[in-house]
Amino acid sequence: MDSNYNLSETDILVIKSILQNKKVEEIEGNKDSIINSARKLASLGIVEFNRTVIPKIVLTERGEEALKKGLPEVILFNFIKTNNKRNELEKSGLSKEEINAAIGVLTKGGFIKIDKDQIVILKDIDELNKKFEKLDEIKLNGIKNEYFDEFLKRGLIRIEEEEKINLTLTEEGKKIASNLGNLEGYVSNLNKEIIKNYKNYKFRAYDLNSTPYILYNGRNLVKYFIDEVRKIMFSLGFQEMSSNYVEEVFWNYDVMMFRQNHPDRDIQDTIYLDEKGDLDISILERVKEVYLNGIKGLSFGYGGKFDESESSKLILRGHTTATTFRYLYYVISKNLDKNYRFFSVSKVFRNEAIDFKHLREFYQIEGMIYEDGLSVRSLIGYIKEFYKSLGIDKIQVKPTYNPYTEPSFEIIGFYDKINDWVEIGNSGMFRKETLYPLGINKNVAGFGLALERALMLKYGIDDIRLINGSESDLDIIRKYKAFKLW
Ligand code: PHE
Repeated sequence: MDSNYNLSETDILVIKSILQNKKVEEIEGNKDSIINSARKLASLGIVEFNRTVIPKIVLTERGEEALKKGLPEVILFNFIKTNNKRNELEKSGLSKEEINAAIGVLTKGGFIKIDKDQIVILKDIDELNKKFEKLDEIKLNGIKNEYFDEFLKRGLIRIEEEEKINLTLTEEGKKIASNLGNLEGYVSNLNKEIIKNYKNYKFRAYDLNSTPYILYNGRNLVKYFIDEVRKIMFSLGFQEMSSNYVEEVFWNYDVMMFRQNHPDRDIQDTIYLDEKGDLDISILERVKEVYLNGIKGLSFGYGGKFDESESSKLILRGHTTATTFRYLYYVISKNLDKNYRFFSVSKVFRNEAIDFKHLREFYQIEGMIYEDGLSVRSLIGYIKEFYKSLGIDKIQVKPTYNPYTEPSFEIIGFYDKINDWVEIGNSGMFRKETLYPLGINKNVAGFGLALERALMLKYGIDDIRLINGSESDLDIIRKYKAFKLW
């Protein structure tokens, strides 16, 4: 019996524990090896493995902090009562980011209004105190309430999933269990202690005829998909760009005319690193000039200040368009007469709340086209062609806003599983202000597509967390290990 299955001590322990009606958490030993063993036994048809995931709402660090100190909008409101000068709000002890968000909440709710450099209180904040109680309520019982969406969006709460695993013996498993006596008392896994005192132990014989059990095989679906995407991009005539995850604020934002200290930058929830980068002065000055004063005869610029110490900060890049701009400068601006199509498939990082369609690290498919006679029509054409090659046909574009493109188009795809359109990418023609400092005056088009979203659409996977990241479901990944696109 044993020779057919080659059960390890952990396997036997798991079988015995099921017989004793123990829950998985109650089995003594290393949790990972117990789960691995249970999966192995399941794939051998010895146990039935049922996994249920129970969602629970919990407070994030920011949420806990808000419970301790109060919601930023309440702190700010109380501060404004004593000091209503707009440019002194930082004395409230809140960060710039918190102040901006709090002002948003307070003006939207009609509690305050901004009057030049003063802030005027319009009504008291009883409602907000109620909101605070609701946060406490969520902490206590983990159940949704009317502020759920808002709290989630503001990163005060997150959904945690508790995993419950239930194991039962199959008919085959019961047979094996009734014979377990034969295996007991024999050692199969060696350790230092056992080897030293080998005379005191009885060892299981090696079964040279058994087939080894291989647990984790196959490539991750995401990795596989990346290669398929790369093939498509090559077939559309694009060259691949190489890049780094760590980027300077300059290449992620400034060069694209994102205003400094402006909510435009908030869409990416940037992850800052402690170190600073080495800025390339040859381009910095030119970007700064256009940023402040615009292009003569065309635009005025933002005016104000341009803070170079901000530009040199290092971050985990929030979009691979940073790479596009490096190539525009270091390759294209030195070869203005040639035509180019560049792409990359690489990771970006955003400090976002994780849910079924958002991760903190995800892949972007970046594309850039520098070609004579390029138009919006060709941009949309490339994008549609790309999705068509993947077998995704239900695509639409709609106008949107990016600080660095004009016109800009959001790309949405129809997701059968939820019977609705979801955002799957973003694109546009780069603004003159972003190209002029680089010395480029032809049209340049760009797009950034969300790789995991395309994958979800293509394979009908309804939760991005199951295929990428620390919560991946290995069973799903294994199931897709051998799929083929064509
Ligand atoms: N950078 C954009 C994003 O992260 C995508 C994009 C790339 C838009 C190029 C326009 C041009 O969503």
